[in-house]
Amino acid sequence: MATTRDFEGKVALVTGASSGIGAATARHLASGGASVALAARDRGRLEKLATELGGQTLVVPTDLLDRRQRGELIRACVSRFGKLDILINSAGSSGVAHSPPPTSRAGRRCWSSTFWLP
Ligand SMILES: NC(=O)c1ccc[n+]([C@@H]2O[C@H](COP(=O)([O-])OP(=O)(O)OC[C@H]3O[C@@H](n4cnc5c(N)ncnc54)[C@H](OP(=O)(O)O)[C@@H]3O)[C@@H](O)[C@H]2O)c1
Repeated sequence: MATTRDFEGKVALVTGASSGIGAATARHLASGGASVALAARDRGRLEKLATELGGQTLVVPTDLLDRRQRGELIRACVSRFGKLDILINSAGSSGVAHSPPPTSRAGRRCWSSTFWLP
């Protein structure tokens, strides 16, 4: 947790905010006074975190492998908060070692989210 209001007046976008490093970073930024946009695919987990954080949060369920949804995410953030100061790009996957081969549809998604998530 931030001990001061270091991020007061700042707008942050955190991808991968539904879990792990992204969720922890979102908590840190919010406790420091930032307005935080939360992005990942799981709306339920994002909304639970937004409720926990209170204050200025925006939930934007997004599949970052989809170019159109990436554009919508930025537009939603700027539309709500008027700017974007901080980007924490934490979305990703480390499960590739246990994934199906990249020749299958499921395997291609796993390899994509491991190596090519923007
Ligand atoms: N934890 C570590 O020790 C460590 C060390 C080195 C590197 N990393 C890397 O750091 C990143 C985060 O790690 P973590 O431990 O926080 O992982 P995590 O708990 O599995 O979180 C991954 C996040 O990425 C999101 N995500 C995955 N695919 C997505 C997609 N297509 N579109 C949007 N969001 C997507 C997931 O949310 P949804 O499922 O809701 O979409 C989740 O919020 C990963 O890339 C990991 O490989 C982690």
